[in-house]
Amino acid sequence: MDKLIEVEELVKDLDPQQVLAILADNFRDQITFSTSFGWEDQVITDMIFSNDLAIEVFTLDTGRLFPETYSVWSRMRDRYKKNIKAYYPNQDRLEAMISQKGPNSFYESVDNRKECCGIRKVEPLNRALKGKKIWITGIRAEQSQNREQMHWIEWDEAHQLVKVHPLFFWTLEEVKSYIKVNNVPYNALHDRGFPSIGCAPCTRAVQPGEDFRAGRWWWEDTSKKECGLHSTSPASTSI
Ligand code: ADX
Ligand code: SF4
Repeated sequence: MDKLIEVEELVKDLDPQQVLAILADNFRDQITFSTSFGWEDQVITDMIFSNDLAIEVFTLDTGRLFPETYSVWSRMRDRYKKNIKAYYPNQDRLEAMISQKGPNSFYESVDNRKECCGIRKVEPLNRALKGKKIWITGIRAEQSQNREQMHWIEWDEAHQLVKVHPLFFWTLEEVKSYIKVNNVPYNALHDRGFPSIGCAPCTRAVQPGEDFRAGRWWWEDTSKKECGLHSTSPASTSI
């Protein structure tokens, strides 16, 4: 919690680029950024790589991503000549789940879906965050009603670190404009009706006027649509 106050003091009144720079300087080797290669993440990655900031960039490769996502990942390597650290699911747990339940068990129940997200995303995330003090994400308030209730700097009780969402107050138009002006590579699916991109079997395009996240786990109740990466537990506090 003291860390939360320390971070808030450091970043007060700064814009996203300045937030990243000051956190990089103050938390060397203890700060990490998770990218799923979505629009917002591309903006943050560009800010980190173009300015040579000392922030590790990692991705959780679930093994079920879209081909377009792997393509934008490769294009990022070509463009910036920087590494993006990849985390993979625990092999034994993945083999056990698929052997017992088949490759698409997530469609059968919310429990199965959460089990799959747990194995493919949450456990690798826990490894990625081990020993870190700051976790940067591309979350924006506009993305869902759940996220509107979040705060741009939060104490993450589960991981014992401060979570920072530098683009929290940006609109989608601002994100797109940054990408255009800076010529940042982006996932081709965004131009085909996918505002939010996760795993291929669990993401579909949305209709004009639908919510940003309507295409994620579309067969489930809206209230259940978080995969556990960003659980808003009552224990987590924020400013
Ligand atoms: S999710 O919880 O529904 O999957 P969403 O796709 O909105 O999350 O992305 C929100 C933020 O979570 C991203 O900006 C990124 O920081 C992180 N994130 C989501 N998926 C991944 C992934 N596969 N690898 C790394 N980070 C991810
Ligand atoms: Fe599994 Fe779907 Fe979750 Fe990806 S989004 S980890 S495929 S349940």
